[in-house]
Amino acid sequence: MAPPTNETRDTLGAARALVAEWAEEGLETWERVASEAAAAEPSAPASPAEPERAAASEPSSAPDPASNGDGTSLEEVRAVLGECTRCRLHEGRTQIVFGDGDPDADLMFVGEGPGEQEDLRGIPFCGRAGDLLTSMIEKGLEIPRSSVYICNIVKCRPPGNRNPTPDEVTSCRAFLDGQIEAVRPKVLVTLGKPAAGTLLGRDVAITRERGQWQEYRGIPLMPTLHPAFLLRQYTPENRRKVWEDLKKALERSLA
Ligand code: URA
Repeated sequence: MAPPTNETRDTLGAARALVAEWAEEGLETWERVASEAAAAEPSAPASPAEPERAAASEPSSAPDPASNGDGTSLEEVRAVLGECTRCRLHEGRTQIVFGDGDPDADLMFVGEGPGEQEDLRGIPFCGRAGDLLTSMIEKGLEIPRSSVYICNIVKCRPPGNRNPTPDEVTSCRAFLDGQIEAVRPKVLVTLGKPAAGTLLGRDVAITRERGQWQEYRGIPLMPTLHPAFLLRQYTPENRRKVWEDLKKALERSLA
């Protein structure tokens, strides 16, 4: 890929500075990130040799193939995220783990945060828990993993796989919302308590509340157990519960 033009660099730099300001104000939302990034847009178009960065600097021009038509694309969200240093998680990461799968997916999975393998490979859910998730999608639901979209509430690995702290989740929140906005899935599936709690904005008793439809920004949301929990407690009962939740989610996404 050709190096970014100075104009494109300036635009992204301005957008990053704005995001850092809003994070300090506690006012960060993807809508603000996106609209202010658009306002910082230079008048000259970026070179066609830079498709990802062009999407970041041209959010309101020709429809982006990775967007569901509302103007936000995954490339745009990724470009504004940049080489993020907004929270302390950047200090220990190998790389950002943004997301994986179909930008037009009807079914979108949201986990907690990258683990060791994910941090090394840059792909969400590619370690042991990921293998289980992949097999539930491919062998259970009988759809290719590449037909869904998968991401996490934080994009950098928390040290020792601890839960992300509230300030880390807040720093990453606009980007999760941006991904949801870009993919605009028919159904969201949250994996585990932190992902459900983050999107629902409250403490979620996941073992009691899993399997019950919720809603996030008008999108039906199915909370289920995290595959890492399933690996620890791989009982027929837990497997049945997750299987039922995923079946409901798939059926609704096809309706
Ligand atoms: N657990 C998560 O929540 N996300 C991953 O990407 C991997 C493990």
